[in-house]
Amino acid sequence: MKTITLNNGVEMPLQGFGVFQIAPQDCEAAVRSALDVGYRMIDTAQAYYNEAAVGRAWRTSGIAREDLFLVTKVWISNAGDERAAKSIDESLRKLETEYIDLLLIHQAFGDYYGTYRAMQKALEAGKVRAIGLSNFVDARFVDLVENMEVKPAVLQLETHVFSQQKRMRELMAPYGTRLMAWAPLAEGRNGIFTHPTLTAIGARYGKTAAQTALRFLMAEDVIAIPKSVHRERLVENFSIDDFELSAEDLDAIRALDGGKPMFADFNDPALAKFLLEYDAKFNPERQ
Ligand SMILES: NC(=O)c1ccc[n+]([C@@H]2O[C@H](COP(=O)([O-])OP(=O)(O)OC[C@H]3O[C@@H](n4cnc5c(N)ncnc54)[C@H](OP(=O)(O)O)[C@@H]3O)[C@@H](O)[C@H]2O)c1
Repeated sequence: MKTITLNNGVEMPLQGFGVFQIAPQDCEAAVRSALDVGYRMIDTAQAYYNEAAVGRAWRTSGIAREDLFLVTKVWISNAGDERAAKSIDESLRKLETEYIDLLLIHQAFGDYYGTYRAMQKALEAGKVRAIGLSNFVDARFVDLVENMEVKPAVLQLETHVFSQQKRMRELMAPYGTRLMAWAPLAEGRNGIFTHPTLTAIGARYGKTAAQTALRFLMAEDVIAIPKSVHRERLVENFSIDDFELSAEDLDAIRALDGGKPMFADFNDPALAKFLLEYDAKFNPERQ
């Protein structure tokens, strides 16, 4: 799998496996399956409530820690200097690891300045190899980045062929921050798996629409973490290293960009309220 060098010199696989919406009881098997297929980067989060399953899966896989790239994210309920620091130690414990490769702030709500300071300290302490953000857009991104010493290595945003984040990529470029795509297959929306443009382009290379959409992100140096609980789809999504899209193909796929996200408007007060209440509602340890 191809890798990308982050702004602090850390090398990261361009493609990994995301475990959002995989129940803790199914997650260990799903991660084992992904590792078996060849994935070496796993994207989890405190608020996916499956970090421990990820930890068990890699520990029992026999894969050396240095051959893995573990990503997790600090949730809003753990925001602030002290709570974030404590939650990082808790993530390390659940993931059964001495260091996290990439740690992100999951959402731009709560005391995220305190969280970022705690992450900078964890970086200094060697508990984390790189730090970054998720779902920080526009002014919030610029404000945090301008005020913090360590520039984020990665910004994880909803990114797929229908929402290519061109404007955010321009904002990120001066800081060397890399784009990491969540929902890289648009969670199946817009008929992505049978989309005529993607299907026609893919057919020329003997590839599916999903593979074409993922290869496009790779060609644009966008890190992607497609999720599937089906082994054959894990294999399909991972088999994108052996073809290259032509300049014409890339232009045709660039033209699919709708210019705005399809899933979440982070300026929506109702979304803010939902996310602020999320942990109290969904954390199985708090039920
Ligand atoms: N930072 C954030 O706020 C945030 C938000 C959302 C997601 N994420 C991260 O991004 C990862 C991926 O995003 P996502 O899971 O929302 O969406 P996604 O990867 O775009 O799409 C996943 C969906 O597509 C299906 N699928 C996958 N490969 C397929 C294929 N080749 N053919 C047909 N169907 C296929 C999966 O079904 P099956 O599983 O049934 O195969 C699942 O329903 C998450 O797991 C998480 O790690 C982060």
